[in-house]
Amino acid sequence: MEKFYTTTAIDYVNGAPHIGHAYEKILTDVIYRHFTQRAEDTYFLTGTDEHGIKIQKTAAEKDISPKEFCDMNAQKFKDAWKALDIDYSQFIRTTDEQHAEIVQKIFKKLVEKGDIYKHAYTGLYCSGCEAFLSEKDLTEDGLCPDHMKKPEVVQEENYFFKLTKYKDAIIKHIKTNPDFIVPSFRANEVLNQLENIEDISVSRVKSNVNWGIPVLGDEEQVIYVWIDALSNYITALGYDPDGNSSEKFKKYWPANVQVIGKDILKFHSIYWIAILMALELPLPEHILAHGWITIDQTKMSKSLGNVISPTAVLEAFNLDIPDPFRYYMASAAPCGKDGNYSDEDFKEKVNAHLANSMGNLLNRTLSMLVKYFDGEIKPEFLGKNELEEKALETVKAIRHHFDYFEVQEAAQKIIELVDITNKYVTDNAPWTLAKEGKMDKCGEVLTNVLQVMTVISSLIYPYCPNIASRMAEQLGYDLKTKLDDISCNSLRAGMLIKKEDIKPVFLRMDSELADKKK
Ligand code: ME8
Ligand code: MG
Repeated sequence: MEKFYTTTAIDYVNGAPHIGHAYEKILTDVIYRHFTQRAEDTYFLTGTDEHGIKIQKTAAEKDISPKEFCDMNAQKFKDAWKALDIDYSQFIRTTDEQHAEIVQKIFKKLVEKGDIYKHAYTGLYCSGCEAFLSEKDLTEDGLCPDHMKKPEVVQEENYFFKLTKYKDAIIKHIKTNPDFIVPSFRANEVLNQLENIEDISVSRVKSNVNWGIPVLGDEEQVIYVWIDALSNYITALGYDPDGNSSEKFKKYWPANVQVIGKDILKFHSIYWIAILMALELPLPEHILAHGWITIDQTKMSKSLGNVISPTAVLEAFNLDIPDPFRYYMASAAPCGKDGNYSDEDFKEKVNAHLANSMGNLLNRTLSMLVKYFDGEIKPEFLGKNELEEKALETVKAIRHHFDYFEVQEAAQKIIELVDITNKYVTDNAPWTLAKEGKMDKCGEVLTNVLQVMTVISSLIYPYCPNIASRMAEQLGYDLKTKLDDISCNSLRAGMLIKKEDIKPVFLRMDSELADKKK
């Protein structure tokens, strides 16, 4: 695999990041880091969506300029992703100058092509969605089903994008590429939505919405959110509609996987695809629509006051590394399904998996090697490894899961391998072997386990990069090993494990701290 380009949705900056936003960025980061173990060249784009009426209004309420407001909140997202070790290559803001210029050019090109036209229009606008809704979308009481708010009636002359022109091509693309939308069960939803699509409004009158990118040559109109927001995936790379796209764009586009939440699947699998078709650009290979994260089985909302910030979780549990939270979130839900966060469950799961099973296994195996063999891997310990087949099978299974972006499922495979290895230790009881003087067998068992631990450190790396590097360090293993080169022979005869280097890679989380959140 040569290159791998992945993106996340860009978050609205009208608030601070919450664990739903964090879920998506962690999921994408885990996928990205996994593919850095497979591809030569990788790129990961994330960022913030900064235009629109909601942001204009919130800034006005706070009596600051929209740009100041965006600057302040965009920084909160950057800080949160730093705390979570989200290893993005680029953070795009839709207020970036380069982005705005290219969006204007894209718009102009589509006007020239006849795919964007001006049209007087009366529509129902939900500012929560930043989208026009049709009567069919509304609840019986005439409310937006996502925001339970009455949309406002907007009467304007807007620019429209000829979505209907691309309807048949999109249907064909979805039908002939069953793995385009991941998970595939969502494809039918999109096909149903396609049945009823109409052309979409892509601009607003400046007197109604002024916080947006102006239409070139038409001062009265600003480009309204979706053409602006969706284009970020190509403007970030330096796409140029006039044919002078950057090397970066040529190298990375089309994206291998674009990760988004299920609520914006329609925009990505219909609107975005139509825009790309209109620009005659190749389409992304996969759109991954993840599910929704609830808190204690309840929808997160400002009015319920149950919105949790990801950094508050790290602080509440006194974590010096984000790994446990990353691990928990990444395995919160099967691919595309909803998941839940709860303090209790978080604590229990990461204590059980990362501290008790995985961390402890490494710790006591290394300690025994030091106790019985002064930490030396002796040549006679290296032979057939009874765990090798299982370990390599796990690598293969994980690769397969990631081909389908099954991040939770892959995590389960790692823990299965940990459990099997733990059982191997129990069954072989190296402490008894030592007592009985069967030293070669004892050394062999310990070495077999440590070889598997090198594999586990590689596999857990995308989820827990800090724990993985602590493990690798104690094992004298090079974490940069590519997935293809993973073996059960990384530890060589003569290698020495020093007693003073052995430390728990992850301590159980303190239960008393758990309740001091928010
Ligand atoms: O939709 N659980 O921004 P946004 C899981 N700017 N995911 C969640 C979530 C939750 N509780 N809440 C939000 C936008 N998300 C647009 C996107 S892309 C060109 C423009 C996800 O801040 C949501 O599904 O409302 C989306 O993918 C992302 O967070 C940003 O949501
Ligand atoms: Mg949203």
